[in-house]
Amino acid sequence: MSTLITNIAELMTQDRDHRVLQDAAVVIEGERIAWLGQAADAPAADQSVDAGGRALLPGWVDSHTHLIFAGDRTAEFEARMAGEGYSAGGIAVTTGATRSTGDFDLTRLALGRVAEAVSQGTTYLETKTGYGLDIDNEARSARIASTVVDEVTYLGAHLVPAGMDAEEYTDLVCGPMLSAVRPFVRWADVFCERGAFTEDQSRRVLRACRDAGLGLRVHGNQLGEGPGVRLAVEFGAASVDHVNYLSAADVDALAASWSGWDGGTGAGRGSGNRGTVATCLPACDLSTRQPLAPGRELLDAGVQIALASNCNPGTSYTSSMAFCVTTAVLQMRLSVHEAVRAATYGGALALGRESGNDVDGERAVGSIAVGHRADLHLLNAPSATHLAYRPGMPLTHAVWRAGVRAR
Ligand code: NIG
Repeated sequence: MSTLITNIAELMTQDRDHRVLQDAAVVIEGERIAWLGQAADAPAADQSVDAGGRALLPGWVDSHTHLIFAGDRTAEFEARMAGEGYSAGGIAVTTGATRSTGDFDLTRLALGRVAEAVSQGTTYLETKTGYGLDIDNEARSARIASTVVDEVTYLGAHLVPAGMDAEEYTDLVCGPMLSAVRPFVRWADVFCERGAFTEDQSRRVLRACRDAGLGLRVHGNQLGEGPGVRLAVEFGAASVDHVNYLSAADVDALAASWSGWDGGTGAGRGSGNRGTVATCLPACDLSTRQPLAPGRELLDAGVQIALASNCNPGTSYTSSMAFCVTTAVLQMRLSVHEAVRAATYGGALALGRESGNDVDGERAVGSIAVGHRADLHLLNAPSATHLAYRPGMPLTHAVWRAGVRAR
């Protein structure tokens, strides 16, 4: 079955050439993009959809979320708005609530959050474990996550549980807990921050997870300058996330990690000599009253960046990628094109899914090009500029996820 989407006022491809087409059309065939170009040249298809002069973007790729949780931290949020600082300790509250919730309810809660995200234009989602913090509960979180999202990250190294020795807990994370989650996850992460894991402990986690064949990412430089970025680059992590407090050396290290990149011209999954993506989480920055990550400076230095929601009950209880894009434009001084790119192609790059091949089904996401997964977001607006021009407005008109109409 093929579908022609025509009468697209603005088609922001976010492809390798950053093309933006006017008066465009796209053909979806099954789960893939089969054609795109000027509407006047469009081939026939089994059915057609009139976009009504609206703007079409790739679906959002949300590369950093924590959706497997139960409970609520409204009181902590209120205290923060009244002037208290954020500390990693709040993770323990969610861990308690998550452990005491059964599989059925935990799955139902996660599915509800995925549905909320998809209804706002998100078509590819990562999520992390990290509210289990013992072997059984981390494995359970990983298993549930693998049934509700596209990419799962092991974050046993989120917080040392109360009453446990940090070194012994790190041994557990690197040993039996890693073995228990391994069948369900593709990525590993460590919260390398004061109040969470030290540089040495983080290094141990990254080494063990790399040896187990997992791709790596790091929560780093969220609450102050520290070793997170340096470690992420040293280990060739796919991303370092938060990046609120960066030294000049951190920015240089991230930029240097991209100096040999082939720009996405290579075939197959992932691109040659890729560096470490800096993932900015503006909703979290606002909700924790941290300085916004320096997205403008990172882009100017040659670093590839992603924007993600960081949806979680402690620091960022939203899955609105549009809110992140709006904030990146209004507050971080990104252009609309740069912000949309970071929330689509950038997220795909952080997940190693920006390129793929058309044969084995490992399709690229985060950009609109022939052979890529048909993940599309039709705005109720004539151009993507409206995302920033009309902040907070519900601009999602239609969503296709892997070629299937999801809204
Ligand atoms: O990304 N930084 C660590 N993890 C989450 C916060 C989790 C929580 O406080 O529950 C984050 O902000």
